[in-house]
Amino acid sequence: MIHKVAPSVLAADFTKLEGQIKLAEAGSADWLHIDVMDGHFVPNLTFGPMIVSTINRLSELPLDVHLMIDNPDLFVEDFVKAGADSLTVHYEAVVHLNRTVNHIKSLGIKAGVAINPSTPTDLVKEIINDADLILVMSVNAGFGGQKFIESSYRRISEVRALIPKGKRVHVEVDGGVTIDNSAKLVQSGADALVAGTSIFKAPDIADAVRRMKAV
Ligand code: DX5
Ligand code: ZN
Repeated sequence: MIHKVAPSVLAADFTKLEGQIKLAEAGSADWLHIDVMDGHFVPNLTFGPMIVSTINRLSELPLDVHLMIDNPDLFVEDFVKAGADSLTVHYEAVVHLNRTVNHIKSLGIKAGVAINPSTPTDLVKEIINDADLILVMSVNAGFGGQKFIESSYRRISEVRALIPKGKRVHVEVDGGVTIDNSAKLVQSGADALVAGTSIFKAPDIADAVRRMKAV
């Protein structure tokens, strides 16, 4: 299984966004990860659908949109129209998760469910047959550049073990991912690595993606 690498544009230099995205593409990035934050669910504010649609015009890569917002149901259609190829909502932010996930899929894109570091992994058991992706947060959602939480390796393995045989569900990890911990994350069962700082703050963005793909 070849893992995906999803550079997180949160760490990009927005004065050179197009060029930095092209460098990530040159390194064979698989997806672009876009962090949407609302200042309620997490203590930070970032982008809305307009920026997603702008990035969609800058790149052919699939857009992996991570909604760190309360009431994500209110915005699902806006983000699909903006060009999201997958929409990930937080388990902790949604009451009727089955409805939300199936609504996202009914609009023709992939649906993901994210869990914060303190959310028990077995809580995704009932949604795993509907979701296309489970995102294991390896930092507390809200900011780039935080320190990786070590229990994430075990949590990734636990989520991987919940996936029924023959069913294809991505296990994505997000937060503090570097070239150094990538191999162990893939060994633990992650098949999609999100990385902001370690890619966009690297001296050579394309090379950083290439190295993370090669682990
Ligand atoms: C954090 C975001 C991450 C963030 C990762 O809440 O979900 O996607 O961009 O950034 P790094 O790789 O710098 O930890
Ligand atoms: Zn993210």
